[in-house]
Amino acid sequence: MKILVTGSNGQLGSELRVLAKTHPSFEFMFTDVAELDITNEIEVNRLVESFNPEAIINCAAYTAVDKAEQEEKLAFLINSFAVGNLARAATKFDALLLHISTDYVFDGNGFRPYIEEDPTNPVSLYAKSKHAGEQHIQSYAKRAVIIRTSWLYSEFGHNFVKTIMKYGKERGKLNVVFDQVGTPTYAHDLAETILGILTNGPHAEGVDIFHFSNEGVASWYDFAKAIIEFSGIDCSIVPIETREYPLPAARPFYSVFNKSKIKQRFQIEIPFWRDSLRECIGKLMRE
Ligand SMILES: NC(=O)c1ccc[n+]([C@@H]2O[C@H](COP(=O)([O-])OP(=O)(O)OC[C@H]3O[C@@H](n4cnc5c(N)ncnc54)[C@H](OP(=O)(O)O)[C@@H]3O)[C@@H](O)[C@H]2O)c1
Repeated sequence: MKILVTGSNGQLGSELRVLAKTHPSFEFMFTDVAELDITNEIEVNRLVESFNPEAIINCAAYTAVDKAEQEEKLAFLINSFAVGNLARAATKFDALLLHISTDYVFDGNGFRPYIEEDPTNPVSLYAKSKHAGEQHIQSYAKRAVIIRTSWLYSEFGHNFVKTIMKYGKERGKLNVVFDQVGTPTYAHDLAETILGILTNGPHAEGVDIFHFSNEGVASWYDFAKAIIEFSGIDCSIVPIETREYPLPAARPFYSVFNKSKIKQRFQIEIPFWRDSLRECIGKLMRE
């Protein structure tokens, strides 16, 4: 099976590159903005036509949540307009589009884990741009899988785990919010799930949405405490409220996912968030 990956220098794309080595039955073409700028519809069509993939995994995104409040046009260009380009090309050349979305499509005012059918209500501009991307897929894709994920980290790129490790070593005391609750997701686990879905064979017609994170529930405070614990850094983590640490973009207070659909459909078991975090930090510390 030929698979085109976009945005493959990011966290998720890098994890897919690592896993590609253990999936010889797949022929991958890894691209990032230098090889394929997904905002360029002509280039998207040209590459999809010439490589002729059976699946396109879209890891490309504008992910600077706070900066998006100032860069609305760019966020929408990459997270929605360009997703439309991919959806149209996938339909034209009969490929499955596997796209990644976010827990931020929900407003976070719920109090039980979100299912795929729950009403969306994105709050920040980043969230609105990602939500619009989902809508473009609904409008233009004939066969697509949208996986919503949350609190993504890996040993690659920038993320909360690396930030806490860096500042934890430098400062010895960090304030972290305890009133936003969700679940961290190790990009390696998401990448494995994506390849598992594709191994299952051709996807039926239509657009299917799934929720995926690691198992369990945490606040950012819990997450930071575990990072410090597993990395053996001498740093105290102080719980604070969101209002004590104002940021340009509003975040959902509660964004835990119900993952029953993806687990049942693809017969997968998902690791507990602390186990995956320990594994990732182990890799980071061996580097
Ligand atoms: N990170 C999270 O906590 C989180 C949470 C929930 C959902 N998600 C979603 O999960 C997906 C993967 O996230 P990630 O953390 O792996 O993202 P990431 O590390 O920011 O990677 C995104 C990649 O896309 C590239 N890119 C940007 N504009 C592009 C364009 N026009 N054409 C082609 N490539 C382009 C980026 O390049 P540059 O770095 O040069 O811009 C980067 O290499 C995204 O859809 C994101 O919205 C992430």
